[in-house]
Amino acid sequence: MAALKETATYEDLKASDEAHQMHGFGHPLMQKGPRQLVVFESGDGAMLKDVIGKEYLDAMAGITVAHLGHARKDLAQVAFEQRNLTKNNAIKVCERLSGLAAQAFPENMTGSRVYLTAGGGEGIEAAYHLALRNSFFRNYYPGSTFIPASMQPELSDYGWKRWMEGHDKSVYASNSHRMFSNIDPPHELFMDKSKMKEGENLGQAAARQLEKGILQENPETVAAFVFEPVQGDGGAVDMHRDFFPLAQKICKKHGVLMIADEIMAFAKTGHWAGMELYGVCPDILVISKGLTSGYLPMGAVIYTNDIWKTAFNNPSTKLMMSDVWQHDYTWSGHPVCAVVALKNLDRIENEGLIMKCAGRGRTFLEVLKKKLEGLHVVQQVRGTGVMLGVDLISVIATDIEQKVLLEYGVILRANTNKHCLLLTPPYVMTDEQFERVADALYKVLSSWATLAESAISKSRQH
Ligand SMILES: Cc1ncc(COP(=O)(O)O)c(C=O)c1O
Repeated sequence: MAALKETATYEDLKASDEAHQMHGFGHPLMQKGPRQLVVFESGDGAMLKDVIGKEYLDAMAGITVAHLGHARKDLAQVAFEQRNLTKNNAIKVCERLSGLAAQAFPENMTGSRVYLTAGGGEGIEAAYHLALRNSFFRNYYPGSTFIPASMQPELSDYGWKRWMEGHDKSVYASNSHRMFSNIDPPHELFMDKSKMKEGENLGQAAARQLEKGILQENPETVAAFVFEPVQGDGGAVDMHRDFFPLAQKICKKHGVLMIADEIMAFAKTGHWAGMELYGVCPDILVISKGLTSGYLPMGAVIYTNDIWKTAFNNPSTKLMMSDVWQHDYTWSGHPVCAVVALKNLDRIENEGLIMKCAGRGRTFLEVLKKKLEGLHVVQQVRGTGVMLGVDLISVIATDIEQKVLLEYGVILRANTNKHCLLLTPPYVMTDEQFERVADALYKVLSSWATLAESAISKSRQH
């Protein structure tokens, strides 16, 4: 096939895509099959345009990254102007993030340390490097590199589980060689109620599961509890307010670190850190996505000064190889990414966007609830800041995502479990634009309800 020209048509691009590109979480059948390929060409604010000139409302902010919206000249300009390769910007980002963490949690995050990465999963790997055995929630998406993929029961075939099984299935199955275990999220739709004791609320039940899990594994071998404060891919799932204070006590008691995966939640919940919702400071925060509003890749691991002092507390000044943290990435602290992060943080801070985001989120949630609650296929409409979820009664989210995209030009996302639609609109989405998003969803979901009803009544007639 000849190389693509600047003037390539949609058909040329589709053919080339089918021939050459491997899509993440994809399969060749998905590229050829009914899922139509959309190729975006430009964007502005909350709008995107594809190569055939069709416009879309982006209620996902890219892959939940573009907090400030698309086509921000100020962010592109600072990247363009950053021509030298000094590390000053990385230093400034670390100081800035350490300051933001201290502002959110003065008692524990003052003097916090920051390690920069090029993305979220890399951050989880880095945080995980402080630990060997972890507990975490079901329904959680930590990333798709080896260690994060191993943490998901549904996808663990891709990581540790498959590797161990390759050696010896019985070794994997035995408790002593398991690397991860998980508990139910303290949320009414995701907690297995049969595991709850009488008189216990969701937060208390999950905390009890956590402690039971730590004790079962042997606390001395459990390094960390990893969780999202508000689950993103899980479908904007926030946690029962009693849970984290109890979890913190349990983790402290057993010497287990708390790692908050804030990769999705950073600057989306009406706070810088999602954990501010619960007033609980984790030991390690991992952020990414909104750190640069998606203009360039960057993530960060922020951890308490206590960990720093404990992990690198050398009695002598002579360093052995084993004293050094054996961890780094080529793109950590890249100066162009770092300068974009600084400009993005400036904009969010100077324009009071964290507070505004809380307000935008409340308005969006009201609109969604008004339009969608009561529809047959809708189980729950929920939201925290600009993380919004529409939980469905069955696993039809991918079909809904496609219909809304292709028929109404609205971008939202089916979660991995296909039972929920996730919306993370950029701060710049207007009320009128969000009304259009909610209208499109209403039209597709209400026609789905009618179809479902007719299918049921048909089967009853038989
Ligand atoms: C909560 C959470 N953790 C981790 C990741 C993985 O981040 P990355 O894709 O940058 O590796 C994601 C990505 O969506 C995420 O939402």
